[in-house]
Amino acid sequence: MLASTFVLFGATGDLAKRKLFPALYNLDLDGKLPEPFAVFALGRKPFDDEMFREHAAEAIRRFSRRGNADEEKISRFVKRIKYQIADATDAAGYAGLRETVEKRERELGLPGDRLFYLSVAPEHFGPIASHIRASGLAKENALTRLVIEKPFGRDLATARALNAALLESFPAEDIYYIDHYLGKPMVQNLQSLIAANPVLKAVLSNKYVANVQITASETVGVESRAGYYDEAGALRDMFQNHMLQLLMMTARHSEIFDKRRIMESAYPIAKEAAGSHVVRGQYAAGSADGKPLAGYLDEPGIVPGSRTETYVAARVMLDDPIWRGVPFYIRTGKRMSEKSTRIVFVFKDPLEAHIQGEPVRNYLTIRVQPDESVDFRLNLHGMDGGLEPVSLRFSTRKEEVPEAYERLLHDALSGDPTFFAHWDEIELAWKWVQPLQEAFAENRVPLYTYPAGSRGPKEAEELLAEQGFSWLEQEDLAPEPRV
Ligand code: BG6
Repeated sequence: MLASTFVLFGATGDLAKRKLFPALYNLDLDGKLPEPFAVFALGRKPFDDEMFREHAAEAIRRFSRRGNADEEKISRFVKRIKYQIADATDAAGYAGLRETVEKRERELGLPGDRLFYLSVAPEHFGPIASHIRASGLAKENALTRLVIEKPFGRDLATARALNAALLESFPAEDIYYIDHYLGKPMVQNLQSLIAANPVLKAVLSNKYVANVQITASETVGVESRAGYYDEAGALRDMFQNHMLQLLMMTARHSEIFDKRRIMESAYPIAKEAAGSHVVRGQYAAGSADGKPLAGYLDEPGIVPGSRTETYVAARVMLDDPIWRGVPFYIRTGKRMSEKSTRIVFVFKDPLEAHIQGEPVRNYLTIRVQPDESVDFRLNLHGMDGGLEPVSLRFSTRKEEVPEAYERLLHDALSGDPTFFAHWDEIELAWKWVQPLQEAFAENRVPLYTYPAGSRGPKEAEELLAEQGFSWLEQEDLAPEPRV
């Protein structure tokens, strides 16, 4: 059953503009929203309905992947939205909000199945949840869903406190923690790719795989989020959530619920030993496409002398029957040379003594973004009798790939928690990250710099070199297809 009332806290914010309204609109175009469907947009800014609808329409024109959008359809969609000026932290306003919601639901004949989306600063999650409950805004005997955006805490203790606060107002099964990487179609596809292809399932284990490399590199810098980012850093902003979720999705065996077991099986890295397993970096001045780029410390709003990391690479080992002994190298960074999220399984040495030429290792590369592809790298004899690498490739262009938020919003509306981060995974991920946070804070791990627009600190090579491996970059992975 789909919830048919969508209550959005933080409706004038950046996420709503870039992701949520465009995603809801795309769902509407695909006929995936219930009919009728009511959206309540709550914010502090003094919009009225008409002004806000134009704001949402503009967001759709700019950010929907179907941006050359049809004005008639946009206008039909935005008419579903009512804007409400609200200070969500003030309990007094909730009774009025409840009346407005109920009145509109009566007009539209809606049952009161409500999804509350909290796109607000994390310190407001607990209080808003409690006001929703106390005011009766979450209707008895109807569906209720509470969707929370990250960050889910700053560390293990604050994450636990947050979850405890939410549980005071909502049962665990009504809480949906969004990790938008889990909404990316290729990440969701990992499951079927492996489970539905026995040939892959047979070889993806420590018997044949030498190492696994998970990369999420971004070209953007800190942008206008200095206040948040300088406090968070790459470890909290990307690693604890998106990167560890990618690890769990990649290494799990069959059931989605295996993710928790995978996280549990990750060997903890003691803070005293962090320097041998983790590399951290911060971008310095550099360039991209011939244009100069400022270093992190010169970005507006960054605390002078800040030691916040914008890059993290780690070697993670799993105490798991399938993956024991296989290093998972995981890295993420801002202001890197390319935007790319990919998972590469690197197979063990293929060398057969009687083969002429120099075979490369086999790789299975799963590209999550910007384009999606699955690419198997093999060796074949070329025209000159020597071996050359070739690729078996499936790919989709990015215009065809649904946005992560489309799937996740639809799943939350329908009450399907599969591709949300589950509390036990979040807690285990914080537990694993905690000693690294301490090691960073106590400066037990050197902070290397790397030029903006580069591949990150060269010291990250050493993490792999110790085991005789190296990071596979885009050009290593993409030989030109033969014609
Ligand atoms: C967010 C982080 O969760 O993910 C950002 O807070 C980051 O810092 C973003 O830029 C990356 O998402 P995507 O979908 O562009 O890879």
